[in-house]
Amino acid sequence: MGALDEKAIVITGGAGTLGRAYARAAANEGAAILVNDVNAERAEHVAESIREAGGRAQADSSSVESWDTASEIIQACLSHFGRLDGLITSAHRTSFGPIWDLTEEDLDVTLNAHVKGHFACVHHAALVMREQRSGSIITVGSRALNGLPGVSTYAGAKGAIMSATFSWALELAEYGVRVNCINPAAMLGKGEPAEHMRWHWDFSVERVGWSEPVPSANSVAPLAVYLLSDHAEWITGQVVFLSGDTLALLDHPREKRFAFRPEGWSLEDLCLHFRDTIGANLEMPGMDVPIYPWRNGVGRDS
Ligand SMILES: NC(=O)c1ccc[n+]([C@@H]2O[C@H](COP(=O)([O-])OP(=O)(O)OC[C@H]3O[C@@H](n4cnc5c(N)ncnc54)[C@H](O)[C@@H]3O)[C@@H](O)[C@H]2O)c1
Repeated sequence: MGALDEKAIVITGGAGTLGRAYARAAANEGAAILVNDVNAERAEHVAESIREAGGRAQADSSSVESWDTASEIIQACLSHFGRLDGLITSAHRTSFGPIWDLTEEDLDVTLNAHVKGHFACVHHAALVMREQRSGSIITVGSRALNGLPGVSTYAGAKGAIMSATFSWALELAEYGVRVNCINPAAMLGKGEPAEHMRWHWDFSVERVGWSEPVPSANSVAPLAVYLLSDHAEWITGQVVFLSGDTLALLDHPREKRFAFRPEGWSLEDLCLHFRDTIGANLEMPGMDVPIYPWRNGVGRDS
C-alpha cells in the first residue's frame, strides 16, 4: 500500500530540480503524476522514467503563466487519470539584481512564473477540488520571503505566495481542501546545478552563510508526499521548511508586540516611546542574521 494510492497529482515545474524529485517520490507511493513543465523534453523524460519504474505518469508542457494554459494543465490531469487529488506548484523562473537595477521585464518574469502561476493553477485546481470536497494543494515558498538582497522580485513573489496560501487555506477548509506551503532548501540535486542555480548557490553560501553540504532535492520529497497524503488530513494553512535534518514550521505573520495609548499615537508620542515599547529588540530582516544592526540609525555604524 502506498501513501498516495489511487490519487492523481499535478506537479508544475515537474522536470526541475525539486519537481522531478516530488514526481518520482509521489509515483513511488502509488500516485499517477501529471508532470508539467515548459521544457517538454525533460517533462517527457521524467514521465518516462516513472513509467519505466512501473508507475503512472504523463507529460504536459503548458505554461503555468496564463489562466487558459493553467486550465489546460488541470484538464490534462483529469483527462489522463480521471481525477485530481493533489497539486504541487513548483514551476520556477526568476530575475536577479538590486532594486535600482531592475527593469519592468525583470519584475514580470518572476511575478508571472511565481505569483500568476500560483494563482492560475490553484484557481483551476480549486474549481475541481471544491466541487469534489477533497484535495491537497502544496504551494512553494522559500526562506527568501524573509528578505534576500539581490533577489527581491523572488523574495516578494514568495511573500505573496505565502499570504495567498493562508487565504486559500481559509477559503477552502470548509470544502475539505487543504493548502500548505513548502519552503524547501535543496540547492543541489545529484550532479551539477543548473547555471542560474550556481549563482544562487554562491550567493547563499557566501552571503547568507548557508552551511555545506546543501541537501539533495530527494530529501525534501517526503514532506511533499506527507502533505499530499491522508496522513496530513488535519494540516492546512501551514508553511513548512525542510532542509536536510531540519524540519521547521514558520510562525504566522501576526503582530507580536503591542503598545497602547487610549488617546492614539501622535508624532511626539512615537518619537518618545517607539524605542522603549515595540522598538525594543528590533530584529534584522533576512534569512539568517538575528541581530538588528541599526539602533543608532540606518546607514550609521552601530
Ligand atoms: N532548489 C531550492 O533549494 C529551492 C529553495 C527554495 C525554494 N525553491 C522553490 O522550489 C521551486 C522549484 O525550484 P527548483 O530548484 O526545482 O527550480 P528549477 O529551476 O530546477 O525547476 C523549475 C522548473 O520550472 C519549469 N518552468 C519554468 N517556467 C515554467 C512555466 N511557466 N510553466 C511550467 N513550468 C515552468 C522549468 O522549466 C524548470 O524545469 C521554486 O518555486 C523555487 O522557488 C527551491
